[in-house]
Amino acid sequence: MSEQVLVCRSDELKEGAVRVCTIGDVEVGIFRHNGGCHAYKNVCPHQGGPVCEGVRMPQVEDVIDENGLFVCQKFNEDDVHIVCPWHGYEFHIESGEHVIDPKVKLKKYDVVEREGQIYVAI
Ligand code: FES
Repeated sequence: MSEQVLVCRSDELKEGAVRVCTIGDVEVGIFRHNGGCHAYKNVCPHQGGPVCEGVRMPQVEDVIDENGLFVCQKFNEDDVHIVCPWHGYEFHIESGEHVIDPKVKLKKYDVVEREGQIYVAI
């Protein structure tokens, strides 16, 4: 059974921000995205890098015209990735799954937000 650990006040985690903290002997990153919170162990499944300390980037998508020709590229702000700072593996911020191989995942923790406080179940 998991324990809910208080991380911070809700207003201390603004939209687009991340807070990395240590809970027991586990380092966890809590991300605010589209109003919700997502928490992951700060260990990349590739080679153990501090994945939660990487930048967040929207998915880059090709725009193709009606003739099948490339027009340009654009950001998809609905699909933000966490980019590991060591070798650039990218993970969907809402699921923790690698963008190419969904079997490769960040360790995810449940987040509960109540009465103006954020808790991580660990
Ligand atoms: S350790 Fe994260 S991409 Fe290599």
